[in-house]
Amino acid sequence: MSPVLSLRGATKRFGGLVAVNGIDFDVAEHQVLGLIGPNGSGKSTTLNLISGALTLTSGSIKLRGAPISGLAAQDITRRGVSRTFQLVRLLPSMNVRDNVIAGAVFGHRRRWGAEARDFAESLLERVGLGGKGQMPIGQLTYIDTKRVELARVLASDPTLLLLDEWLAGLNPTELQDGIALIKSLRDEGRTIILVEHVMDAIRSLCDRCVVMSSGTKIAEGTPGEVLSDPNVIRAYLGDDDA
Ligand SMILES: Nc1ncnc2c1ncn2[C@@H]1O[C@H](COP(=O)(O)OP(=O)(O)OP(=O)(O)O)[C@@H](O)[C@H]1O
Ligand SMILES: [Mg+2]
Repeated sequence: MSPVLSLRGATKRFGGLVAVNGIDFDVAEHQVLGLIGPNGSGKSTTLNLISGALTLTSGSIKLRGAPISGLAAQDITRRGVSRTFQLVRLLPSMNVRDNVIAGAVFGHRRRWGAEARDFAESLLERVGLGGKGQMPIGQLTYIDTKRVELARVLASDPTLLLLDEWLAGLNPTELQDGIALIKSLRDEGRTIILVEHVMDAIRSLCDRCVVMSSGTKIAEGTPGEVLSDPNVIRAYLGDDDA
């Protein structure tokens, strides 16, 4: 089966800095790909290239065989690719439910009116925010803003979901809930790219991992393989400690 997503030679320069340097990888249907690596290694930039927030300097990105590099972000969302942001982005003037409805209206499978509202309510239940639909965004706890963002992304009905450190900053109980939630998304057949530093989550959720360091891919394999790879350990610890 052809991959959902293929990156070939994906490169992004910011002036003199090569943030993403000739990256190649494929994401297979229904798989969770972990995109991991130390701080500043180019993970978020890679998600930005896939979601259309940034354009490639060179290389290609294909979604089910069709080039998507150069398309506007909203066109990529319409094709079924949605992402959460490392720093949560919501519409602060709207309540919880309306933020989620916004995702449904602008999504892959567009929903309107009562259908969008009902869908939003069901997603709020699912992420653990049942009954909080009318709350202003400003009154939410940190974890709840993350839950709203996930519900907003799910409202667009993505077939490829990009999660940028969605589990970061959660306490141990919230983390277990969060991992279970991502598992349930995988089990319903969504394809996921998970950018994550939480090793428990990587081990329990990812089918395969791509490891980045300073913009390049330094390893690829199962979580067990890459996390025991000396090059990966060296990249995480820094050369001095390895
Ligand atoms: N818009 C930008 N303009 C200039 N440099 C940028 C921009 N976005 C990212 N960078 C730089 O590109 C490099 C990769 O950043 P990126 O955010 O992709 O890393 P990351 O792997 O997501 O790191 P973290 O784990 O800390 O989130 C960093 O050196 C960063 O400073
Ligand atoms: Mg990042």
